[in-house]
Amino acid sequence: MAGAELIGREELAEIQELFSHEKVNLYRYGGGNYKAREFEERFADYMGVQYAHAVSSGTAAIHCALAGAGIGSGDEVITTAWTFIAPVEAISALGAIPVPVEIDETYHLDPAEIEKAVTPDTKAIVAIPMWAPPKMDEIAAICDKYGLTLIEDAAQALGATYKGRKLGTIGKVGSFSFDAGKTLHTGEGGIIVTNDREVYDRAAEFSDHGHMHISGLPRGKDPRRAKGLNLRLSEVTASIGLAQLRKIDHILSRSKENKKKIKEAIRHLGNISLRSFSDESGSQGDTLIFRVRDREAALQFEAHLMERGFGTKILPEALDWHYAGVWSHLLPEYDRYRGVDLEALWPKTGAMLRSSICLNIPVLMDDETIGKLVEAIITGAEKIG
Ligand SMILES: Cc1ncc(COP(=O)(O)O)c(C=O)c1O
Repeated sequence: MAGAELIGREELAEIQELFSHEKVNLYRYGGGNYKAREFEERFADYMGVQYAHAVSSGTAAIHCALAGAGIGSGDEVITTAWTFIAPVEAISALGAIPVPVEIDETYHLDPAEIEKAVTPDTKAIVAIPMWAPPKMDEIAAICDKYGLTLIEDAAQALGATYKGRKLGTIGKVGSFSFDAGKTLHTGEGGIIVTNDREVYDRAAEFSDHGHMHISGLPRGKDPRRAKGLNLRLSEVTASIGLAQLRKIDHILSRSKENKKKIKEAIRHLGNISLRSFSDESGSQGDTLIFRVRDREAALQFEAHLMERGFGTKILPEALDWHYAGVWSHLLPEYDRYRGVDLEALWPKTGAMLRSSICLNIPVLMDDETIGKLVEAIITGAEKIG
């Protein structure tokens, strides 16, 4: 669980530093401190972008990113049928129309499927890197061809790259999450990054009831040009973020090394298929995905791993939160999905997800544990035949 594994004294020290001020301020716009601003500056430096704006969650971050990019009522937003539900909720909350499309063998947006889904109402594509890069060149080319905005919900992919460029910085705006399962963990939290001043301003305004943050004006006199919500990050959370960010290189390199060892040891297995990559060197180490024969084999594999003390992550156990084909509580609010067999819209994605296993690769994994996990995977593969 990456950053969550390493929460400790350093995070506490940052909080204590916050409390050491004569006047303690836990609210990001109250007088003094401003850990949130410092966190944003450091994060922007790390990502190599001009602007970062921290908010209360990864869901809030993609919500702000979309709002900042001007997505609104009636706009069609193409995204992937395999994602945690948050970006689809955010698209929906803005009155826009989510248009999930099938994934390809990299488990990301299939460029051919995007082309099929573009209409005159399409405004944006939300690429959702799952610990590795989608086919960003092809996706960016489609955006150029049709005049669409490229947005990256990189909640799961902090530190991953595509052809040397950090994911989250390739599109107009990118978003990240700091929840318990992510590369950095702050309790709850998220952030957006962009090089576009207008997108940054609008996203920041959206996260703060529309406050335009005009310098020199008292907060109560701030003007507004668009509506917003309260999606602000607290100073305590930002303090934790500062300490976590200092650990990022360690987190990324350790989990990548661990994943490499595991992959090398299971690569020969004939009845599990490791996923393909658009740029494997840019993949981060947090999660390992492979595919087995079918759903039954995936469930059998999962049970086998659990018997040996290893849980899965997202697939197969949390499929329902990560596959558009089962979101009958949300998608039928749109005419195009009402009365439709959702499963039948994304059959390839459904089949891939149902036969896949995702394994969390901890940062703190010694060679003995790696050996046990490898052994569990090898015997699991034997069991499913
Ligand atoms: C792609 C994606 N976007 C957004 C989120 C939501 O992040 P949070 O839990 O911080 O709201 C997640 C969480 O898993 C995610 O995977």
